[in-house]
Amino acid sequence: MAPMIRPRRLRTTPAMRRLVAETTLAPRQLVLPMFVADGIDEPKPISSMPGVVQHTMDSLRTAAAEAVEAGVGGLMLFGVPRAEDKDATGSGADADDGILNRALRALTDDLGDSTVLMADTCLDEFTDHGHCGVLDGRGRVDNDVTLDRYVSMSLAQARAGAQLLGPSGMMDGQVAAIREALDAEGFTDTGILAYSAKYASAFYGPFREAVGSSLQGDRRTYQQDAANRIESLREVRLDLEEGADMVMVKPAMSYLDIVRDVAEMSDVPVAAYQISGEYAMITAAAERGWIDRDAAILESLTSIRRAGASVILTYWATEVANRLS
Ligand code: PBG
Repeated sequence: MAPMIRPRRLRTTPAMRRLVAETTLAPRQLVLPMFVADGIDEPKPISSMPGVVQHTMDSLRTAAAEAVEAGVGGLMLFGVPRAEDKDATGSGADADDGILNRALRALTDDLGDSTVLMADTCLDEFTDHGHCGVLDGRGRVDNDVTLDRYVSMSLAQARAGAQLLGPSGMMDGQVAAIREALDAEGFTDTGILAYSAKYASAFYGPFREAVGSSLQGDRRTYQQDAANRIESLREVRLDLEEGADMVMVKPAMSYLDIVRDVAEMSDVPVAAYQISGEYAMITAAAERGWIDRDAAILESLTSIRRAGASVILTYWATEVANRLS
């Protein structure tokens, strides 16, 4: 009789499991998204994301230094302007003294090349209507007018020292427009981390509080429908053709099949964004004692890596980097 095949042999001890683990999780693979707000004196907690704050310029610098010290792969910055500074075209986004561009300058000064500094290249934090672009006369997001705004915002971010720009508005042609403008202005080393497959997701809820968003309605005319998979392949292919240096799938956990698909087709590094709602769900369940917080965090990140992401944006980046090292 043939011997019983026993896969459990390779699970017998922690050392054995470590030896045969197929997926790695390392600090350098984690990117910390950070919020910096204008006009506040103290870091402001985000109630739906316990442990995450809107930073002052000072607390941002401290937290960024701690993240880099912990060994994270990079930082992704979001700016939160004062409500009275928002307008229809998001002027604060490309103003050199806008909150995000000031923060990029400060962190460039502090950190130099010791980390990879990234910026969210999108208007939604800066517009009074909360959409990712400029509206036309009928209240729809005007793709091509918005591209001009993204170009201006990109140049401001490049001037401020951002090394990777993250266009997250899902406008058609955004990567090509930004690449062309960066090259024309001599920013040939400034890269583009394209939010290529970005879904209209209910899991962004807490982020809207995080950036004080004024959005009414939804983003379904520009972000993707959760029902679609092949559409993501098309979006990624277009961004690669347009010159994306990295591509991203977002959210992560409800879209691990997309992460896998994109990892198989992409010849540039693939990132996935573990978004605010994913953070909130694990945090809330853990607060109630319903799940083991630390184990759930590691499992979620390992799953995203296993699906094929080489880089993960996660609000737990510093904590997990410290735990891993
Ligand atoms: C758009 C942007 C959003 C997020 C990152 N960039 C919000 C949206 O598209 O509605 C969400 C991130 C998160 O939920 O953690 N600038």
